[in-house]
Amino acid sequence: MDSSTDGGRRRRVLFFPLPYQGHINPMFQLAGLLHARGFAITVFHTCFNAPDASQYPAYEFVPVPDDGGAPAAGDPDTVRTTVGHIRAANQACEAPFRERLASLLERREEDVACLVVDAHLLRLSDVARGLGVPTLALRTGSAACFRCFTAFPELCDKGYYNYQPPQVSSSSQLDLDAPVTELPPYRVRDLPCASPATHGVLQDLISRSVTAVKTSSGLIINTFDALEPDDLASLRRDLGVPVFAVGPLHRLSPAASSSLLRQDRACLHWLDAQAPASVLYVSFGSLASMPAADLAEAAWGIAGSGRPFLWALRPGLALGASPALPDGFEAATRGRGAVVSWAPQEEVLAHPAVGGFWTHCGWNSTLEGVCAGLPMLCRPCFGDQMGNARYVEHVWRVGVTLEGELERGKVETAISALMGAGEPGDGLRRRARELGSRAAECVAVAGSSCISVDKLVHHILSL
Ligand code: UDX
Repeated sequence: MDSSTDGGRRRRVLFFPLPYQGHINPMFQLAGLLHARGFAITVFHTCFNAPDASQYPAYEFVPVPDDGGAPAAGDPDTVRTTVGHIRAANQACEAPFRERLASLLERREEDVACLVVDAHLLRLSDVARGLGVPTLALRTGSAACFRCFTAFPELCDKGYYNYQPPQVSSSSQLDLDAPVTELPPYRVRDLPCASPATHGVLQDLISRSVTAVKTSSGLIINTFDALEPDDLASLRRDLGVPVFAVGPLHRLSPAASSSLLRQDRACLHWLDAQAPASVLYVSFGSLASMPAADLAEAAWGIAGSGRPFLWALRPGLALGASPALPDGFEAATRGRGAVVSWAPQEEVLAHPAVGGFWTHCGWNSTLEGVCAGLPMLCRPCFGDQMGNARYVEHVWRVGVTLEGELERGKVETAISALMGAGEPGDGLRRRARELGSRAAECVAVAGSSCISVDKLVHHILSL
């Protein structure tokens, strides 16, 4: 039933995604969900990483100039680059967005219901509210991650903050394995961190995203109740705005066509020829990079494991190495591996030939792995990824984490643990299948996320 009419007037929902793949995908999935409920959709977007409007003929697209601002290329410090770019995008888009939103409000016959805006775009949510448009904040990470954001100032004050990269422990003055007692099950090493020079900027970014949520008319979050019950309960208790757990969005919304890179679909045919549950799928997402030496160790570990693999090896993943893979790797793995630069990941994970997922634990990838019922090998790189890996290994117990130096022998052993017969692989696979079933239940009729979507629709109509 079309739920978006109100006194005969069609309602329009505006969207403004943060221009990164891991943020664009859930925003478009949410737009698809609301469009299916009868809402008209307008997408404001930066020129950097602009979405392909031809994929969404029913939507209106409004480009907002961002001074051509793109993240600095080739900077090995992904946190510094990304945080700097988010600040710059907020600033550059503020005035042009105000102008374009004002003109849309003058023009549109329909009643604009609200703006759904990425929680990292505080300046743009302020603009919308200033023009009388209510905002809903979309958080594309986990509930646990946002809970960590809300606790961030307290954690800094209490001296939890460490400036070491996640895999380094020996030179740290802090015990990186110490529990964060305010935020179980995090350990110090699981907290988002930055270099000393970038810490203040990261703190500012986190504080602004909490403000964007608290000043909004509601938080939409891509998770589900059975996955993070305690973290969601805590946010619902403490935030002071309604919280809608509507994930996993990729399961509720039509297949994503919001990929910024061309997905190589030929790898699906390659998978067709592989034995059931035999293939390790490897992907480190859209932003992470790693030193060429680490990538070589990962490659030789995969080669040494003797297992079939499909590797989505994004250009730019290996810092300063071209070609990215070491000499001899192709010959050593001929006939049992496929390497593509970008894969149709959701379909790959759902393919019966795939039996394990080596992931950087970006939240979308983590959720996609959970839904596919796959055991995961975690190698978090930055931001929320260490916390996500902690939940995969310690809370849901559906994966193992590769910590410390990346070394081919360790990689080989971890792949065997994940994919091999007997324990721990059997237990990981059983729990992963069970968790996958919980995800399927929450998006079924009367499942918790479907109910949450209904509540969200009513909430939007009430704004
Ligand atoms: C970023 C941050 O890295 C992450 O920590 C945060 O949670 C979200 O923003 P990203 O690195 O892109 O995300 O990882 P992720 O959240 O996993 O999103 C990647 C998306 O790209 C997924 O939806 C995945 O399906 C898709 N993808 C990835 C492809 O379509 N093809 C690929 O080959 C690899």
